[in-house]
Amino acid sequence: LENGLARTPPMGWLTWTRFGCNTDCENDPNYCLSEKLIMQMADQMVSGGYLEAGYEYVCIDDCWLAGERDIFHKLQPDKTRFPRGMKYLADYVHSKGLKLGIYEDFGTKTCAGFPGSEFYMELDAQTFAEWGIDLLKFDTCHSDAHDNKYGYPAMSIYLNQTGRPILFSCEWPYGELQQNLPSDYAPVRQYCNIWRNYWDVEDSFNSVKSIVDIYGKNNSLFQKFTGPGGFFDPDMILAGGFGMSHYQQRAQMAMWAMFSAPLFMSNDLRDIPAEAKSLLLNPLLIAVDQDPFGIMATKLWEFNNLQLWVKPISPQGSAAVVFFNTYNFGSGTPVSVQADSFGLTDQRGYNVTEVFTNNYLGILKPSSVLKFRVNPTDAYMIVCKLLA
Ligand code: DGJ
Repeated sequence: LENGLARTPPMGWLTWTRFGCNTDCENDPNYCLSEKLIMQMADQMVSGGYLEAGYEYVCIDDCWLAGERDIFHKLQPDKTRFPRGMKYLADYVHSKGLKLGIYEDFGTKTCAGFPGSEFYMELDAQTFAEWGIDLLKFDTCHSDAHDNKYGYPAMSIYLNQTGRPILFSCEWPYGELQQNLPSDYAPVRQYCNIWRNYWDVEDSFNSVKSIVDIYGKNNSLFQKFTGPGGFFDPDMILAGGFGMSHYQQRAQMAMWAMFSAPLFMSNDLRDIPAEAKSLLLNPLLIAVDQDPFGIMATKLWEFNNLQLWVKPISPQGSAAVVFFNTYNFGSGTPVSVQADSFGLTDQRGYNVTEVFTNNYLGILKPSSVLKFRVNPTDAYMIVCKLLA
């Protein structure tokens, strides 16, 4: 979508995988979806250095709404959990230098059963703009996916007509997938800044692997529609969560960066293991994700559970390279590869740095051989900058 937003993949934080639809503030006050939770996360994004690293959007997923619209049909947040309203929350988030994202659904109800936008899209777009919302995640439950091709463009146009820049995050192709319909990515890219096209990520390596597999199977198709203004969204980053080892968490981040995917963490920034935090803030990794070319990596091969992905990055002729190991047994896969076998063919050579450790590995020539191990369910990631 050419609305000036998402020139690089958007980065931020989103409630869903970690906080879900916890509305029970009476019994679970520190973990329920509330204005307090969002304000605390906003504070952490700044004090923890996340904003400085590029994470900019604080986003609320499903379950912020009251059970009914107001008497003028306007959306309203749940009064006990968001007592001061969304405008107040947006002002607070903006005062920290952050942006606020919110969630609605194209159908009659959200997935969790709150009022949907169907029949009210124009009013809802205006309401979000009035509140000062900066991103809308638009879900697809309780609707007929045949209608997505009308509904999503309509909402996109209504958002545009508000005059407020609102990043548009769509679940349009994912809705089609759920109803076994094919997706046409040309209009999706035309009307959306980012779009989900696969099942929800879960806090497990199997889930991450299944998402990487889909991106591998559809590699050339997805690449065509990836670029500044529009990116595929493989769903949230789970570093700092419970279900994956540190190695699995970094493998997820490596692959998402290779996809030029949005980086929305879903974790508890009030309580993050140090290892996960430094991974989330890794400047080399973030630079690969945020590379201005905005290209999705190419999968070069898969052999014995090891996948090789290469992404062209700036300056021209440079590349990020990931070996992604899905094998979950043993003590790792020893690899020995010649640089030109993964596209590093320029005789001038490349400055190579290992991303997770920030180790400078020296200059690689096309005939140089690189040797390393890739741990089970981990990745090995390097950045190769063409020498001028
Ligand atoms: C389905 C979406 O895919 C999830 O990301 C989340 O937004 C839930 N709906 C909320 O109900």
